[in-house]
Amino acid sequence: MTMNPRTTSAPSRAVERLVRGLPTSDGAGVKLTRVLTQDLQRRLDPFLMLDAFRNDNPDDYMAGFPDHPHRGFETVTYMIAGRMRHRDSVGNEGLLGPGGAQWMTAGGGLIHSELPEQEDGLMEGFQLWLNLPARNKMVAPSYRDIPPEAIPEFTNADGVRVRIIAGASHGTAGAVERPDTEPLYLDVHMPANSRFTQPIPAGHNAFTYTYRGGVSIAGTMIPDRHMAILDNDGADAVVIDAKEASRLLIVAGKPLAEPIAQYGPFIMNTAEEIQRTLRDYRDGLFEGASVNRL
Ligand code: CO
Repeated sequence: MTMNPRTTSAPSRAVERLVRGLPTSDGAGVKLTRVLTQDLQRRLDPFLMLDAFRNDNPDDYMAGFPDHPHRGFETVTYMIAGRMRHRDSVGNEGLLGPGGAQWMTAGGGLIHSELPEQEDGLMEGFQLWLNLPARNKMVAPSYRDIPPEAIPEFTNADGVRVRIIAGASHGTAGAVERPDTEPLYLDVHMPANSRFTQPIPAGHNAFTYTYRGGVSIAGTMIPDRHMAILDNDGADAVVIDAKEASRLLIVAGKPLAEPIAQYGPFIMNTAEEIQRTLRDYRDGLFEGASVNRL
């Protein structure tokens, strides 16, 4: 009798809950699906939001996200298809294209715009919001463009291609590391009949989001365009099986376990800090001298 390696690998975290997401629009009318909604912020701490957008009708994306402020966290934008131009009040500008990422630390505050740089074709990608610990919420804002070739990747024996936007996977370090929340952000491309196992430290909150095909985790089917929140008890890994060619994100991180106070694009720890933020914004403190050049 031969051992089947598929039945002897590490046990997987189970799926606690499937989430379809909420169709909505944001910015100047961009249609998107809010996958990680405000009611899941505690459960998925340190992650505050995940938006998925996938539109081939320009009317659903052309207006983009004109000037708007942020304070108190980081935004991670990852493009699958299409181009978006970023400009901010700190003076940064960048063009985000297919397979590239943008990591923006809003910190103490900035104003930015994210505008499509195409008039037709598919626009597809994700924006994830990662919280900052209380002591870092007011750090100076910063911004980093990560072109596709700067995102480390590997292919496993099953032909699974893994792109590592943040964290590390199977000995390969990703493009970004964050010590406080140890975020893991993978884009995983699975051929038919393949398996991928990703260790996840005990206690870290984790979820997947399928954006092509469909996968199964510990016996639960996760269809296209669904988030699976992974159970925190037991196994320190997630084992993903794909019968058909599929693509998904795997996201995990260490919870901050700090109070969360959100008012739209501002995420602080207390209501007082939000009031202060609104005053600062009204008083023009988010507008660096460079904003006038944009
Ligand atoms: Co924004």
